[in-house]
Amino acid sequence: MSNDPVVNQVAQLNDIVEIVSGYIPLKKAGRHFKACCPFHPEKTPSFMVNSERQIFHCFGCGAGGDVFSFVMKIENASFPEALQKLADRVHVILPKRGTDREGQEGKSRKEKLYEIAELAAQFYARNYNDPTIGAVARGYMGQRGFDSQVLEQYRVGYATDGWQSLTDYLSKKGYSQELLYASGLISKNRDGRPFDLFRKRVIFPILSAQGRVIAFGGRALSNADTPKYLNSPESEIFKKRDELYGLNQAKKHVDPDKSQFFVCEGYLDLIRLVQSGFLNSVATLGTALTVDHCRLMRRYVMEAVLVYDGDRAGESASIRGIDVFLEEGMNVKLLSLPAGLDPDDFLKEKGRGSFEGLLSKAQDIFEFKLAHLLKRFNPKDTVGLVRISNEFLEMLAKVKNSVLVDRYLKRLGGVLGIDENSLKKEFLKLQSKSSPDREKDWGKTRDIKNSSKPQAKFLTHEWTLISLAIRGKKFIDLLLKNLEAQDFQDQEAGAVFKYISGNRSGTIALGELLEQVRSEAGRSLLSNLAFFDLSEEENEIAFEDCVFKMKNQSCADELSSLLSKMKQAEASGEEEKVSEYLRQYQTLVVKKKSL
Ligand code: UTP
Ligand code: MN
Repeated sequence: MSNDPVVNQVAQLNDIVEIVSGYIPLKKAGRHFKACCPFHPEKTPSFMVNSERQIFHCFGCGAGGDVFSFVMKIENASFPEALQKLADRVHVILPKRGTDREGQEGKSRKEKLYEIAELAAQFYARNYNDPTIGAVARGYMGQRGFDSQVLEQYRVGYATDGWQSLTDYLSKKGYSQELLYASGLISKNRDGRPFDLFRKRVIFPILSAQGRVIAFGGRALSNADTPKYLNSPESEIFKKRDELYGLNQAKKHVDPDKSQFFVCEGYLDLIRLVQSGFLNSVATLGTALTVDHCRLMRRYVMEAVLVYDGDRAGESASIRGIDVFLEEGMNVKLLSLPAGLDPDDFLKEKGRGSFEGLLSKAQDIFEFKLAHLLKRFNPKDTVGLVRISNEFLEMLAKVKNSVLVDRYLKRLGGVLGIDENSLKKEFLKLQSKSSPDREKDWGKTRDIKNSSKPQAKFLTHEWTLISLAIRGKKFIDLLLKNLEAQDFQDQEAGAVFKYISGNRSGTIALGELLEQVRSEAGRSLLSNLAFFDLSEEENEIAFEDCVFKMKNQSCADELSSLLSKMKQAEASGEEEKVSEYLRQYQTLVVKKKSL
């Protein structure tokens, strides 16, 4: 561990199993816990947490480390930020460092803002449940057909029509006026006097994914009051592009076989979805879907089902929002409701069964986009045809999954009556124009950001393969049959592999393997991995995933080098070379797909 006693203390007080399960659903599996890895797209769980050693490791992409590395990776945070976060959780006060002063004060200020938000949520909930004060709000929600249990679960509250009820309550608790303004709940009038932002409204507390209150939405009780909805302004603890209403609940209800969220637009749409039994639902907070929303959801699910009012799904803005999902390797479906009905109206009128009927007919984004393009342009006319295929291919160029790309090229060819191969050619042209980073998966992009020297590569998936040597003869044989020392890009891993292939005794003990490793990183990874007692099947999956990653990566490297050669040849007008490289490229693409 660390030499710093405070760092050790924070590590000891934070249980990695608890921390990880705050972000992704973990399942107990023998002596460890399992999940689908939040750091790379995958279908079978190969992400494991070992509580004995307090470490995690993904046997698919090789990501791994302790509780600090996990928080750093998932929050995209620096070490000091992760340390601070974990220290706050267990109420450890970090010693102030001279240069860090401001940051320290900033943190305790944030802590106070969380407290204020929590107190306000409790204050509004008390109003709502008060027999006299809350009657009007409960009447409104009851008349709209919402159940009190669900409303309680979402901590629905009520702000009375007083101008200073919350202001007085929070001031009495001792918070400074400046802090109350910073919370966004209290505003200043022209005479410089504070007043409550939310009045005469049903209140929907907005919770972070970790379940802390961070902001509020409030609905007017009567149509005469405007605006219909009022939301907290952004604050030091609330960035609305990063948050999804209901996520802290939805994340607990993901079905591993149907790893999806329903995504709607409104507070009450969400509550209606939940009340109707669709517990895995979230809502955007009056903003378009952002890439941050998508990354946030991607931690928990493979697929988002966008549930939109029939009119609105047609708006190009929502289609533009959808492209974001493709770039992040997430599946998207569109469940279009009849025009004029939002999810709340629809479920209330037609019930759960009809909703499921629509769900079974939900279009995936490609069908939707294609239908949309066919409406806009005429495929019978050459210009229209080119417009349709160009727009579609541009979207396809963002898709990370090559199997999907292939499938849609086929479909597009069929619908437009164009030869699939000419579509493919156009597609490759487009791809070579887009960023050279395309071939790299998440894991790799992150690795590159963190390691500056490519020569001194430490490739955890290669070390994961090496670690399989201690799992018995069967795995040694598997390794030797499928790999050669040259396949390893990490030189030390390659050298250890040579040792394994020279050892014919049949089994290798951890100690013996460690003797072959000089680097600290290699030794520590190997001894940590030995602590996961994986089943035979899990070891096999790890083997396949890591071999796949290794080959995929070397194909990807070769592809990008071919691309740059092609560009050079094109620039100097060497037609023959271009077509030779293109041939090689296509062969390699096929090979990569068949991996
Ligand atoms: P809608 O206008 O579709 O309202 O706004 P709704 O959710 O159907 O609400 P009800 O059924 O009339 O009560 C959808 C979402 O857009 C945001 C809110 O987040 C709302 O839930 N919105 C809407 C605002 O922020 N301000 C507004 O004035 C209106
Ligand atoms: Mn509505």
